[in-house]
Amino acid sequence: MTAFQDSTIPLPIAERPVTIGEMVVADYRKAEVFRKYGIDYCCGGKKPLEEACRKKGLDPNLVQQELDAVEKRPAAAHQDFNTWELDALADHIVEKHHRYVAASLPILYELTAKVARVHGERHPELVEIARLFNAVAQELQMHMHKEEHVLFPYIAKMAAAQRIGAPLMPPFFGSVENPIRMMMDEHESAGEDMEDIRRLSDDYTPPMDACTSYRVLFAKLHEFEQDLHQHVHLENNILFPKSIAMEKEAVAA
Ligand SMILES: [Fe+2]
Ligand SMILES: [Fe+2]
Repeated sequence: MTAFQDSTIPLPIAERPVTIGEMVVADYRKAEVFRKYGIDYCCGGKKPLEEACRKKGLDPNLVQQELDAVEKRPAAAHQDFNTWELDALADHIVEKHHRYVAASLPILYELTAKVARVHGERHPELVEIARLFNAVAQELQMHMHKEEHVLFPYIAKMAAAQRIGAPLMPPFFGSVENPIRMMMDEHESAGEDMEDIRRLSDDYTPPMDACTSYRVLFAKLHEFEQDLHQHVHLENNILFPKSIAMEKEAVAA
């Protein structure tokens, strides 16, 4: 600051450090880093990063590095999953999409409840969004458990047997088509609930007066829906039909 500047006059936006609230509005993925360190980016979001870290006894350089890493996270590279072995594809679905859902559920539980509690009176659709999200979350938890413990291990067994030309023992559920039918019904139900959330949130458009949490919630719900679309696409359109075809081939052999 020069001798000619008056320290009581606030600096123009371009000259002052960006606040943590502004960082989250610009890139909502950064909320995950602040949440991890217990930094309040909503009500306490008007502070620059250094000040917020100092209050928590955190190293601001370390937190900044994590924020930079989030920003540089590349968009998913195009991958031709249609050529993948079925067990590798099932592993990929678990590692990428099931882990993503499991990590997102606590964040979205907290946010849907908080935003509905604070703004539900003026925006009653938020209460309905919280209810619908709870239903989706519970359904998906049970759904992923069944895939990881019943369906996907059988698909992996089929793929391994096919590779070495070994015979395949029939599963306790009769045919792979039975759990697949159930999984596809559950995908449809979760998809319908997410569609209702999209409609109620006006395509994830926060109102003009929405606070940071409100905006983060809509952005995160939008991200969650997009991930779910890719997840269900890989199962419904690639993994499941190929598993049914593989089983038919094994039975005919
Ligand atoms: Fe899945
Ligand atoms: Fe699924």
